This record gives sequence, C-alpha cells and structure tokens, in this order.
Amino acid sequence: MNVVPTIADVRAAVAGARARGETISFVPTMGALHEGHLSLVDAARRVGGYVVMSIFVNPLQFGPNEDLARYPRDLESDTRRASERGTSLVFAPSVDEIYRRERTIEVRAIRLGEEWEGASRPGHFTGVLTVVAKLFNIVQPDFAVFGQKDLQQAALVQAMARELDLPVEVMVEPTVRDSDGLALSSRNQFLGPADRMAALALPRALMKVRAAHKSGVRGGAELERVAEEVLAAEPGIDLDYLAVVDRRTFKRVKTGGAHAAAIAAVRVGGTRLIDNELLES
Ligand code: PAF
Repeated sequence: MNVVPTIADVRAAVAGARARGETISFVPTMGALHEGHLSLVDAARRVGGYVVMSIFVNPLQFGPNEDLARYPRDLESDTRRASERGTSLVFAPSVDEIYRRERTIEVRAIRLGEEWEGASRPGHFTGVLTVVAKLFNIVQPDFAVFGQKDLQQAALVQAMARELDLPVEVMVEPTVRDSDGLALSSRNQFLGPADRMAALALPRALMKVRAAHKSGVRGGAELERVAEEVLAAEPGIDLDYLAVVDRRTFKRVKTGGAHAAAIAAVRVGGTRLIDNELLES
C-alpha cells in the first residue's frame, strides 16, 4: 500500500489503477481509525478493486471551541491498519496541500443541514461538504463509502453528489458498535470508565425507541419521550438534541413512518457523542 501526501500523487496512482481497468472506491476519514472505518474499507473492497482512503483532519469543519487541537492523530498506526485491511492507497495531505490555494468557494447546504448537527455546530457541514467535494474531485472515485453513525452528514453528501451531478455513488454502511452497544467513534478514547458507563445510556435510549417503534408506537413525540426518560435517568449525560426525524428531510416527524430515524447528540464529560437508529417498520 502506498501513502502519498500530494494531490498529484493521488491523481497519478488513480490514473494508473484506471488504466489497469480497476474500479475506484473511496473511504474519506479523519484518521484515528477504528473497526467502524475498517468496515467501510470492507464495503469499498466489495464494490471497487482499488480502494483509496484519505486521512485528513479537516480544520474547516471544526468550530472555534471544538476539539480540533486534541483530535487524535496517529498516522503510523492508521496506515498499518488501513494496509492490513486491504486499502490500496492512503492520501494523507497537509492542511496546506488541501487549502493552500485561494479560498473563494465553499459548498453550503440550503436544506437538510439547518437543524441538529448543523445547529449545534455552526459551519460544520459547510466544512464537511467543501472538503468532501474537493476530495471527490481529487480522487474521482466510482464509489464513496460513509458511515451511518453520521447520518445527517451522509444524507448531505448524497444530496451534494446528486445535485452537483458528481459521478460517484455514495454508499452508507451500518454503524459498528462495541460489545456494550456504544457506537465506535474516534472520540470514545476520551471517555474515562465512569464516562463510558454513562455514555451507554445513549445506545440504550435509541434501542428503546426502536423497540417501541417495532411494537407499534408511531407518534414522534411519544417515541422521543421513550428515549428522553432513559437519558434523564443518567446524570452523567447532558442531552444536546434528541429527535425522531424523516431521514430524507431531517425534519421532526409527527408520525414515525418508513423513513424515520431517531437521532441524538449528548455530552459526556468533555466529549460530544452522536448516534442514531433507523426506525424501519
Ligand atoms: O466523517 C468524517 O470523518 C469527516 O466528516 C469526513 C467525511 C472525513 C470529512 O472530513
């Protein structure tokens, strides 16, 4: 597996793979790889022979009071894990390589991104969409693979690809969880043992919503109450938001139909965690 730092390197490597007749699939990451990221590599390998992974902690998607400085970085271990899992090429650019040229244009959503993560993290989705658009243009993949844990991000990236006619199929793969139910996240390493115990109320609450939905409860407010009760019983958790939304619009629903999802963000100690459950009938 090659690890390259420049756009020119990526373009040359991808052109070589294309000339050999390979399909290109792409897994964008910010590193600190865990099994969730590696499951995206597995999905990428199922659809494309040449798997490109980017590892880039994108400053544009962090707010001024967020955890950009302490975001975990370990390129050596990341590249080892990516290689062991069958990644063909890692693109690990510097901030300068990505943003050194003039910054005149950004990609901003006018729908889907106003609430939830968009409201709690102003500017976050503009940072995500701008870097993903750039990465898509650099790698020019046939397939790109995102995780369901960032459900609103995945919906926005799919909308961007559709509406900007980007020739890439955006796939969304299921969330990978630890055996205790916590969704894997690079930020889990910030949780001490007591925080981790408290954080488990988040998947517990969402699973309870799913069970309630499965047993026939359909009212959005009623479903939200099920989760709120679980979270309120855990003093170590501060709720940012919890909502039952239509995942095509990210608007709260009155009735949880086929496209409903329960989404939530919480703070445990200094760490912000997000999670969701699809409420399929
Ligand atoms: O989900 C992430 O890790 C990031 O938002 C992404 C898609 C790599 C863009 O920086």
